[in-house]
Amino acid sequence: MSAKRSVVATWIKGWALARGVTAPVTIPGGFRVDVGWPEQKERYVFPGMMPAFTSLGNTITEPWIFLKVCAHPDSVRAVLPVHWEIQSPGYLMMQTGFVPEGAVPLTHGYHLKVERQVPATVVHILTDNGGIAASGRIALADDAAVYDRIVTAPEHRRKGLATAVMKHLTAIACSRGIAKGLLVATGEGRALYETLGWKLLSPYTSAVIPGNGALSAGS
Ligand SMILES: CC(C)(COP(=O)(O)OP(=O)(O)OC[C@H]1O[C@@H](n2cnc3c(N)ncnc32)[C@H](O)[C@@H]1OP(=O)(O)O)[C@@H](O)C(=O)NCCC(=O)NCCS
Repeated sequence: MSAKRSVVATWIKGWALARGVTAPVTIPGGFRVDVGWPEQKERYVFPGMMPAFTSLGNTITEPWIFLKVCAHPDSVRAVLPVHWEIQSPGYLMMQTGFVPEGAVPLTHGYHLKVERQVPATVVHILTDNGGIAASGRIALADDAAVYDRIVTAPEHRRKGLATAVMKHLTAIACSRGIAKGLLVATGEGRALYETLGWKLLSPYTSAVIPGNGALSAGS
């Protein structure tokens, strides 16, 4: 299984904007982002399994350089040397045909805050005390809104807050003439997005040679 190269190109462009890192560059078969974080120096992203992916797996020896591919974890494990650690499964997802909806009701006791962190737009749901209960962001790339860092604090989960974040972000995308969304989901995220009509495009697998200590997250 793999994804369309153009879709991955748009997604990684939007991801870089949402995270405020340098723009992706095109490499044979895929893309590279010089992320520059201590536990994610670079990421290589490929729309499917290909020799260029395997070749990087055999030549990279440094920790904290991520290989990411629209493929099942088993296919990745089969080609990478054992010192590569495969991370929790991810899922490339898309929704099309956004239509403007009316105001999204919020559960009692929560308030919405929209923040422009150019080039991203961030939606927070705050508690009465001003704490952040849930949040998420979009960055616009090509013809799509790329959704990123959708999260609800554990004690506020299953109250519809992430649903409200997603709907507000979609309303913002719609107001800017965008009718398509892309994201890479965790397993929990996938369950949420499917209730909102998002479709799975492809499994998405990340691998890294870890340094000493815990692995970093981030789709
Ligand atoms: C995924 C996450 C954002 C969901 O937040 P939430 O505010 O609890 O989501 P909602 O209350 O809006 O959920 C709406 C529906 O989505 C589905 N859903 C949400 N979380 C789910 C889960 N963990 N397992 C199964 N279904 C889930 C359910 O159908 C739910 O409706 P229900 O509660 O009536 O059954 C939250 O669990 C989280 O922050 N997880 C850790 C970070 C993460 O993985 N973020 C996603 C990144 S892609």
